[in-house]
Amino acid sequence: MAQQKLWWQHGIIYQIYPRSFHDTNADGIGDLPGIIQHLDYLQDLGVDGIWLSPINPSPDRDFGYDVSDYNAIDPKFGTMQDFDTLLTEAHQRGIHIILDLVLNHTSDLHPWFQESLKSRENPYHDWYLWHDPAPDGDYPNNWISIFGGPAWEYNRELNQYYYHMFTPQQPDLNWRNPQVRQEMLDIFRFWLDRGVDGFRLDVFNEYFKDKDFRNNPRKPGIHLLPFDRYEHIYDTSQPEMFPLLKEIRGIVDSYPERYVVGETFLADAVHARLYIGPDLLHAGFDYGYAKSPWGARSFGNAIAFWDALHGEEAWPNYFLNNHDTPRSSVRYVTGENDARLKLLAGMHLTVRGTPYLYYGEEIGMRDTRYRRRELQDPVGKRYWPLNKGRDGCRSPMQWDASPHAGFSSAQPWLRSNPDYPQRNVQAQSEDPHSLYHFYKQLIQLRRENPALYAGALDLLPLENELVLVYKRTAAEQQALIALNFSNREQEVSVPAPEAKVPENESQAWQLLFAGNDLVNSTFSEGNVHLPPYGVAILIA
Ligand code: NOJ
Repeated sequence: MAQQKLWWQHGIIYQIYPRSFHDTNADGIGDLPGIIQHLDYLQDLGVDGIWLSPINPSPDRDFGYDVSDYNAIDPKFGTMQDFDTLLTEAHQRGIHIILDLVLNHTSDLHPWFQESLKSRENPYHDWYLWHDPAPDGDYPNNWISIFGGPAWEYNRELNQYYYHMFTPQQPDLNWRNPQVRQEMLDIFRFWLDRGVDGFRLDVFNEYFKDKDFRNNPRKPGIHLLPFDRYEHIYDTSQPEMFPLLKEIRGIVDSYPERYVVGETFLADAVHARLYIGPDLLHAGFDYGYAKSPWGARSFGNAIAFWDALHGEEAWPNYFLNNHDTPRSSVRYVTGENDARLKLLAGMHLTVRGTPYLYYGEEIGMRDTRYRRRELQDPVGKRYWPLNKGRDGCRSPMQWDASPHAGFSSAQPWLRSNPDYPQRNVQAQSEDPHSLYHFYKQLIQLRRENPALYAGALDLLPLENELVLVYKRTAAEQQALIALNFSNREQEVSVPAPEAKVPENESQAWQLLFAGNDLVNSTFSEGNVHLPPYGVAILIA
């Protein structure tokens, strides 16, 4: 009997940055009909869920992460009817839809904030974090915005400051106000009633700040960015988040098989894990794995740590890419060779947990290098050239070799990567040795083999510093995965599979997956032989 796992546990979740996926109305911006057109592609790839970066109306000061209406669809992406069609069509293909809820802050153009600006007496004034200046006219405290500058923006008419962790156009909500809390919880119900399968909560542990707005203490040492000069103990991660998460989970659980995953902010893995539990989040993100240096030992340690933190009670998830980070294809690779990306895929799709993929990861899309005047991201605009921002990993999806990579018939909001005539979905689907086929084959094997989608994880001691080996054990099947992190051939011996009940029944490993290149992994007499960056999966 296969171990029962929920869709988000055994499945694979694919993140779409809607602006950049497919534009059907020639405005240079991706849209919902564009996603609908590619649902067959995603089904064929083997995806179980899609996380959509925000699709609510937004003035785009932070591209959707500044919402001006939570219960609507941004017209640049389509209509509510398009959304309902997307849901129906996705569900028909067994694909779940997860929405990104950005509830820490709104856009400054949200009607609530516009009301709150009108007067101190306005009923919406207390929906945001307004504060009087310090007695000397200075900022209310020493809090700093992660996007640069003080976290306080002055308003002359009110002679008050409002607080924003991100850009000044993203004022933080006052979650201690009961009406705000009620309104926010209703947003969950609104989308659950429409049939969405889950939510990704943007910076959820940022919702509450210290109620006395105490100054953050200074951090020892020398730090380049002012934000890093403080311990962020008062402007984030307050204990009030736990009862709130319980309430959110209660709402989500009142609908069948829904899922809520959280993005923790300024928190390490141990802290992120605290928010996951049977009455808290189903899962959470942590950067430990995505930020691992290259190598069998460092990835092994990152996985061992995150896996152990979850234990049997929780189910980890893993991502190598998202809309905030340079792609793994440029973090770990220089040049066009995809061998290292195949190795990463071999690991990513076989560890215990939910793998998240980011659009274009399956074809190894590289970050696009934009010139300063081409930048869109507020982070890049502010910090260039120290930090070039996040546009690079948000360039248009590369579908084919036609103009603008088949993304749009018009000039895209961000220019396509010039490598698109060679690197695109069509070209890779015609090449059986491509990264795309590597992903597809592994996803298929993962779907068919309970050890891979449900098994417990055991990392084996490193016999060879360059090869990561682990076992996955489910009730009815075992798998052994060997991953060569080096550019030379490697051989490792592997332990025999555990004996099955009844005892003494002899068991032997079978080579399930050896790669899709001309030279692939082999297995004989208890030894796995791996080509450079080779992957081998054995099952018994
Ligand atoms: C985290 C999101 O991932 C990021 O893209 C965004 O800029 C901030 N939250 C603010 O919403």
